Amino acid sequence: MAPDLRIVVASENPGKCREIGRILVGYSVLSLDGFDPVAFPEEGGDYALNAREKAVAAARSTGLPCVADDSGLEVESMGGAPGPYSARYGGPGLDDPGRVERMLEELAGVAPPRFARFYCVAACGWPDGTSETAEGACEGVILEAPRGESGFGYDPIFQPQGFDLAMAEIDQEEKDRLSHRGRAFRALEPAMARRIRPD
Ligand code: IMP
Repeated sequence: MAPDLRIVVASENPGKCREIGRILVGYSVLSLDGFDPVAFPEEGGDYALNAREKAVAAARSTGLPCVADDSGLEVESMGGAPGPYSARYGGPGLDDPGRVERMLEELAGVAPPRFARFYCVAACGWPDGTSETAEGACEGVILEAPRGESGFGYDPIFQPQGFDLAMAEIDQEEKDRLSHRGRAFRALEPAMARRIRPD
């Protein structure tokens, strides 16, 4: 019998969902739309714990294997902040462009190169409460002004190492190849495959 390759992405961030759907080639990647609302636990400062808890909460609720990630931007001159709190940086009420602007203000006195990295822990959770994780990182620098329209979050002010372009100016497939998320989910996939396609 053909294995069931359905995987649900446990995220309400449409940018992340799009990327995970592209990265997990060969799976039938579903969103949470159409499932009962999932009660996600409050996120703290531990990427792996956050990712596992999101994936397992969604898997228990949907009855299907679920993937989630917890990710963030770590800026060297900010001591690694905002890190796992990147989605909430600047406080409630800011959208992605607002957070970008806030970060540029905070870094205004810091001379380039302003080293930073994106970091991601990807998790797959199962309805029995078990989970697997893998990590990925993407090094680069923070630019002085936003550039580009693609991607999401801090992509307009992040220039990956080895590129003269902001992440938001890079072709999406190329972003998947070099991104923290692409690396983390490709590292996670063999563990998913062992459970989903045991032969
Ligand atoms: P969380 O993993 O849902 O807590 O949110 C991660 C946050 O980190 C996002 O909302 C973005 O602000 C930022 N982030 C994570 N990955 C990326 C990326 O690939 N591009 C730009 N920003 C990202």
